[in-house]
Amino acid sequence: MTSIQKTQRAWTVIRRGTPDNAAVLNKEWPVPQDLRPGEVLVKVQAAALNPLGWKLMKFIPGFISWRPYVAEHDFSGVIVNANGTKFKDGDPVFGWIDAPLQRASKQGTLAEYLKIPAEHIAVRPPNLTPVQAAGITLASLTAYQALKGIADLQPDQTLFVNGGSTAVGIFAIQYAKAIGAKVVATASGKNEAFVRGLGADEFIDYMKTGPLHTYLEKNAPSTKYQVIFETVGFMDPSLFTHSAKYLANDGVFISTGPLPTKFNFSALWDGLRTAGAVLLPAWLGSVNRKWKMVMVENSVDDLQELQKLFANGTLKPVVDSVYEFEDAHKAYERILSSRATGKIVVKVDPTAQ
Ligand SMILES: NC(=O)c1ccc[n+]([C@@H]2O[C@H](COP(=O)([O-])OP(=O)(O)OC[C@H]3O[C@@H](n4cnc5c(N)ncnc54)[C@H](OP(=O)(O)O)[C@@H]3O)[C@@H](O)[C@H]2O)c1
Repeated sequence: MTSIQKTQRAWTVIRRGTPDNAAVLNKEWPVPQDLRPGEVLVKVQAAALNPLGWKLMKFIPGFISWRPYVAEHDFSGVIVNANGTKFKDGDPVFGWIDAPLQRASKQGTLAEYLKIPAEHIAVRPPNLTPVQAAGITLASLTAYQALKGIADLQPDQTLFVNGGSTAVGIFAIQYAKAIGAKVVATASGKNEAFVRGLGADEFIDYMKTGPLHTYLEKNAPSTKYQVIFETVGFMDPSLFTHSAKYLANDGVFISTGPLPTKFNFSALWDGLRTAGAVLLPAWLGSVNRKWKMVMVENSVDDLQELQKLFANGTLKPVVDSVYEFEDAHKAYERILSSRATGKIVVKVDPTAQ
């Protein structure tokens, strides 16, 4: 092992707020030392943003926060201390720091070095560059755990993806098409060619439909959807509460989590309506359909499976934009726009491709 510097540059979250205020560049953040058995040290090449990153900054109040901590979750990098694990020094890897690990270790991926359990990483497929691989883990794990783990989607079934151009939706469409399912997906019109290019059989421009649930009720599919995957994070539960007309009786509505972008009366009311719709039994007037929320979690087996799917080209990364390390605030502006098509990547190593 080559000698490693004692301190590093890292974007650290030091207060509650929007990223421009909450995240500051610390040039003296300690490089993790003293690896425990099963942990490796990784030199990060690139990191990618997820909505989880700014949501933790914005919503976690001081009394339960683990601040200061390094921001973000997804990365690609190179092992610099394999520490007796199955990896070797020099192995190119990708992976993630999930929220519990971030809380326990105060580490995030917008830093030059990470100490991470070997179960959270996989060898980067040679067909992906470090920039392409930086953002694949969290979103593809979420899509995979929703569609394979929760829904057990089958080739003869139809999947409706609300948000076909979200990072999660992009992998959901690719996975569903790879197993032979039919896919109907929404996005704004500018993303139609992109979403169809991922394999979607039908496209709905949500900007032209009016309320989506009303449109789907009026244009109900001849064979109802088996799975509705809501990947945008709708607070309004109407897509679920009206779903009897377009979701099969034994189908499932999966949400990535109805999280508000701001706290106000409307968000509170929608939250109460969602709670009522998913918690009350159907005989009390609730919806006679299954509602599940996917909560992405680390799984060595899922990571290995996804690694194979990326390596054989079944899943393809999509990069929306790439920023220099110093420009992380600009990268956060992009994700906060809610208009990104694919992952927003921050180069930690300026030479990363
Ligand atoms: N529970 C979990 O384990 C978990 C895991 C991962 C993500 N999430 C959550 O899932 C959500 C999506 O995350 P992400 O990283 O995939 O998002 P993202 O890539 O940042 O989403 C951006 C995309 O959202 C689309 N979009 C915005 N409003 C839309 C609407 N009304 N209808 C359809 N598409 C719309 C935009 O397409 P247009 O420009 O065409 O509008 C844009 O391409 C976030 O809320 C995130 O926190 C949860």
